[in-house]
Amino acid sequence: MNGEGESATARAGARPRHVAIVMDGNGRWARRRGLPRTAGHRAGVQSVRRVVEASVARGIEALTLFAFSSENWRRPRQEVGVLMGLFLTTLQREIGRLHAEGVRLRFIGAREGLAEKLRRRIDEAERLTAGNRRLHLTIAANYGGRWDIAQAARHLAGEAAAGRIDPEAIDAERFGRYVCLADLPEPDLLIRTGGEQRISNFLLWQIAYTELYFTDLLWPDFDERAYDEALAWYAGRERRFGALPHAEEERVGDG
Ligand code: FPP
Repeated sequence: MNGEGESATARAGARPRHVAIVMDGNGRWARRRGLPRTAGHRAGVQSVRRVVEASVARGIEALTLFAFSSENWRRPRQEVGVLMGLFLTTLQREIGRLHAEGVRLRFIGAREGLAEKLRRRIDEAERLTAGNRRLHLTIAANYGGRWDIAQAARHLAGEAAAGRIDPEAIDAERFGRYVCLADLPEPDLLIRTGGEQRISNFLLWQIAYTELYFTDLLWPDFDERAYDEALAWYAGRERRFGALPHAEEERVGDG
């Protein structure tokens, strides 16, 4: 994992192990076509399918998608309803194929906020695919980065109150074991579509060293070619994790 103590620089190399995506622009995509916003979300599901397939084909180990933020409840009831319905039907329709392809599917976020039926389907899907390792696909639903950090703090505080952990022993490494996705390498590449250049309360803790890639393409237009462009951009990055640039490090080493 790309911990704080890592000092070596690294060429990002051929491909990231873990890609995270903020899928933005569904509403604008629909509006430009004179369609209701919800049509954009339906088109967005096709993009999800394409990117999952492409990730499997390209040997990406983990893909994490921001599907619904803690703040998205503020949208009109009807839009929220359509989104929840889409999660449910997509899950039902796709789970067999995902399982056959060796995809492990998991959800992160405050599950108690989701409808009972959706929660049941999520549990079933997670159980069914728990042994798969080809691609770790994580859907962030009712998720927020601050919620994630707060739930980790709550968990740790409980451990400390019960006397199972010494508060003095809590450092970044220990804390990081309690945030979501702690069993995966941290995201190497975060892609945001839709033209905005912000994180919007996505994986705040986990992206400390992540390369950030922003594209103006709207999520339903994000296809394999666009994905490959992002991956090629990443391959050209030099990752330093707080160290000196590679060339500089060699000079220092020469003495
Ligand atoms: C942001 O676009 C997108 C969302 C809030 C929902 C993302 C959902 C999907 C792509 C569909 C379902 C996903 C799965 C995993 C089955 P926006 O509505 O904010 O677009 P705008 O910025 O143009 O208004």
